[in-house]
Amino acid sequence: MNLSMDWVLQQARPVMPVLVIEDVALAADLARALYAGGIRVMEVTLRTPHALEALAEIHRELPEVILGAGTLIHTEQFQEARDAGAHFAVSPGCTPRLVAAAEDARMPYLPGVMTPSEVLLALEYGYRSLKLFPANGSGAVKMLKSLKGPFTGIRFCPTGGITQENLLNFLSLPNVACVGGTWIAPPSLIRARAWDQITQLAREARELAGSLEHTA
Ligand code: 3PG
Repeated sequence: MNLSMDWVLQQARPVMPVLVIEDVALAADLARALYAGGIRVMEVTLRTPHALEALAEIHRELPEVILGAGTLIHTEQFQEARDAGAHFAVSPGCTPRLVAAAEDARMPYLPGVMTPSEVLLALEYGYRSLKLFPANGSGAVKMLKSLKGPFTGIRFCPTGGITQENLLNFLSLPNVACVGGTWIAPPSLIRARAWDQITQLAREARELAGSLEHTA
């Protein structure tokens, strides 16, 4: 699959689950639970020992899922993620070496930014879809509003601190394509194999976002 990051974020709206998978044996059931809740794009973070195996398992069992590898902070992780079946890559920041690794692995890439200078750096590399990280609280909403003026055409995926309670504050902003977050599938619910609850959380997020589209 050769996808544009802009298209991936459109498919992900309202939310791209950020998955922290500790047990590979739970990966496919977790992805099925999210899929049942209407989620088509998921990010598996490479911050647990068997995350690459979990990613490969989801790719094998649910090939229809658009799958990202997240928390990529080392250059070699890009090719590893691609080999495991990831369609796109996500980092919490943006450095010249990570950008080169994404290009070498020929992966659509969502680099992370937090400041106007970082947005400019990402823009210089040609990236117009960016992760805003960490998007904690009302400060991040204000910042996204402020970034809209100077950065026309840039679309953000705020992540890190998003919950069901503040979801709409972000989604209602015109420069927010979608949000990312673990609240949809928290490690505690994954450990408990609470698949119905995870499906329900995904449905609730989509319903909340749907109410926004109807009032627009
Ligand atoms: C990420 O890796 O994108 C964030 O750590 C997710 O943050 P959250 O747990 O607040 O959703």
